Amino acid sequence: MEFAEAVRRRKMIRNYLDKPVDADVLERILDAAGRAPSAGHSQGQYLVVVTDPRTRTAIAELGNEAHYVASGMPPWMSTAPVHVVVCSRENDYHVRYQEADKLTDEGTEIDWPVPYWWVDAGATLMLVLLAAVNEGLSAGLFGSHRLEGLKELLGIPDDVAPVGIVTIGHAASTATTGSAKRGRKAPEQIVHRERWVGA
Ligand SMILES: Cc1cc2nc3c(=O)[nH]c(=O)nc-3n(C[C@H](O)[C@H](O)[C@H](O)COP(=O)(O)O)c2cc1C
Repeated sequence: MEFAEAVRRRKMIRNYLDKPVDADVLERILDAAGRAPSAGHSQGQYLVVVTDPRTRTAIAELGNEAHYVASGMPPWMSTAPVHVVVCSRENDYHVRYQEADKLTDEGTEIDWPVPYWWVDAGATLMLVLLAAVNEGLSAGLFGSHRLEGLKELLGIPDDVAPVGIVTIGHAASTATTGSAKRGRKAPEQIVHRERWVGA
């Protein structure tokens, strides 16, 4: 698939068929995710891939699937055949940025004006979404507000933060749902040329 088409087609899908994702296809998606950029090549991004139906149901409960179902949506989290939990380990960045080539002139770690561990997790997340679309599949994303429960369920270490859960599967419907109904900004509302405020 052309890159531009994958970008255009990508949208969060919250309705999946009861049909598994081919193992080879899933591996290609995960391989793409491993190609995300990372600050200083710290590579503090990690994935927990879940296909077991009982675990998916438990993850969906932690994502408050009942809330979506109550609002008339299908149980899209638990029925998506694959969950990819995108995680970030902040400490990988501190370790990397204490290496000689990353120290400040004063010999200290940078003061992190932007927390790059979250930035990089977002880049990984986007690659998973686009790679799924590129394979003719659909993907969605949800956050969990019960992170401790999610960590316990999946055995995620204390120093690793789950950032979001990507659902992957075959779409039962590609209807626009959720917040996307608000519509998308036009480019001129996003892009500032040369300066934010014009001369
Ligand atoms: C960081 C992040 C968290 C999100 N969390 C949720 C969520 O918990 N549940 C959900 O249904 N959608 C979630 N979304 C999806 C957004 O609602 C969606 O990306 C937005 O409405 C634009 O729609 P589109 O991605 O289909 O173009 C999240 C998206 C992002 C980037």
